[in-house]
Amino acid sequence: MEVLRTVEELRGWSRSRRRAKDGGAQRIGLAPTMGALHAGHVSLIRAARAACTDVAVSIFVNPTQFGPHEDFARYPRSFEADCTLAEAEGVDVVFAPAVEEMYPAGAATFVEVEGLSDRLDGASRPGHFRGVATVVAKLFVAAEPDLAFFGQKDAAQVAVVKRMTADMRLATEIVVCPIVRDVDGLALSSRNAYLSGEERRQALTLNRAVRRVEELVAAGERRACALIAQAGAIFAAEPEVRLNYVVLVDWATLEPVEIAVAGTLFAVAAWVGSTRLIDNTILS
Ligand code: PAF
Repeated sequence: MEVLRTVEELRGWSRSRRRAKDGGAQRIGLAPTMGALHAGHVSLIRAARAACTDVAVSIFVNPTQFGPHEDFARYPRSFEADCTLAEAEGVDVVFAPAVEEMYPAGAATFVEVEGLSDRLDGASRPGHFRGVATVVAKLFVAAEPDLAFFGQKDAAQVAVVKRMTADMRLATEIVVCPIVRDVDGLALSSRNAYLSGEERRQALTLNRAVRRVEELVAAGERRACALIAQAGAIFAAEPEVRLNYVVLVDWATLEPVEIAVAGTLFAVAAWVGSTRLIDNTILS
């Protein structure tokens, strides 16, 4: 496995892999990450490994998607362990650029997906999705992947990235991988490392709300107001957990819906202590 540090090296690798085989059967896969790899990331890598001939994983804690008072400085970083894991999973290339490589001095170009970027997480994290769309666009331009793999846990991010890719007519197909959970249901996140024992217990409130809504929908309830009220009641019973949003939205537009249909996104975000967590389900 190679570790590449520059955009030029990544582009060179991608183009040489594309030329390396005959018949055009090669497929370049990219799993963009911020490192601190866990089983959720491994699921992206495995999906990429299964669908692609060549797999790159990017590890870059992207400063532009963090607000000034957010956790950029303390975001977990475990580069050596990440590389060991990536290599064991058959990754061909880890792309780990410095901040100056992705944002050269004087860089003034950003990608903004208007509308979508202000909804869900974008509403309480201004500028977050501008940073995500910008860095993902840069990664796509550098790696020129056929397929890029994202986790459903970041459902609003998926909507933003899909829209950005479609609007910019990029040739990369977005593959969404299911949420990976701990045995007790907590959605895996690098930020779970911040939780104390008691906060870890409180964090299960998000998954309880998700499961309750799934049960209600399975029992025939489709009204957004009823589903949101029931989810809200679960948060009300755990007052230490501060609800940020509980929504039923169209997954492509992130606009609220009144009636849940197949494919509607139910999503929650809440602070547990100082840690902001998210969870969701795509209703069937
Ligand atoms: O989901 C993440 O880890 C990040 O938002 C991403 C897509 C790697 C962009 O920095």
